[in-house]
Amino acid sequence: MKLTDKTIPVIRQIEEMVQDIPGWTPVDELYTLFNLAFITADLDGDIVEIGAWCGRSSVVLGMAAKMTGNTKLICIDLFPEKDDWKQNQDGSYSFEVLIGDKRYGGYQEQTVWKEPFERDIAPLYEQYNSVFDIFYKNIKKYNLTDIVRPFRGTSEILKTNMPIDFRCRLAFIDGDHSYRAVCQDIKNIEPFLVEGGWLCFDDAFTTYNGVNQAIEDLIINNPNYELCQQMTRKFFIARKKRTVPYGKYSRD
Ligand SMILES: C[S@@+](CC[C@H](N)C(=O)[O-])C[C@H]1O[C@@H](n2cnc3c(N)ncnc32)[C@H](O)[C@@H]1O
Repeated sequence: MKLTDKTIPVIRQIEEMVQDIPGWTPVDELYTLFNLAFITADLDGDIVEIGAWCGRSSVVLGMAAKMTGNTKLICIDLFPEKDDWKQNQDGSYSFEVLIGDKRYGGYQEQTVWKEPFERDIAPLYEQYNSVFDIFYKNIKKYNLTDIVRPFRGTSEILKTNMPIDFRCRLAFIDGDHSYRAVCQDIKNIEPFLVEGGWLCFDDAFTTYNGVNQAIEDLIINNPNYELCQQMTRKFFIARKKRTVPYGKYSRD
């Protein structure tokens, strides 16, 4: 099957693309993301993904960016290496990466339980030293190297590395699921989000209280957003329409 083939149902193309890519986003949610990327094609701006892991959702967003033309996909992740992971006292796992002279933690609040770590994560490091190597192999496999711009770090990168005129039409937030980190991701992406653009939160209104609370505090009653809707099992989606100047909204 040729990718970007206009006559083959997208959901089949997605299924085929991701069948061998480890990760957490199921096909129905990838399909929703693809559709959002596709229907916002007439807006200014690129697509941002916070939390890329091995590239499962990145290749789908990258395909949509490629099909819609003139769009880049910015992928931000801590991309942990094998030795960055440590076992906690209760047997679960977390990681800590050193980037420059700063340390960043991953899976610190909600840690990865021993069984899923041993089943899904440890085997990846038998072949590769870094998650980035797997991610990049998948980006190359689908000829997306000219579309995808990977960054190792957190959403702070948007503030420090993006040009002042950078714009985003769709952001998929799937990094650290703690309240503090999700609030930070929202605050870092908001200045770049164009009117009519979308924010998509993974693991919203399931078992991650931090994600839920951040959405409730910063998004749901925020007059800058409309058309909020939980989509499929995990996504909460908001459409932005600027009515209050950026930075002026606060729940208090
Ligand atoms: C649930 S996974 C992403 C799954 C991916 N979107 C998929 O469809 O398979 C979460 C990712 O967030 C990354 N991560 C954790 N904390 C982060 C942070 N503060 N900023 C950016 N990425 C982070 C982890 O390294 C991991 O790759």
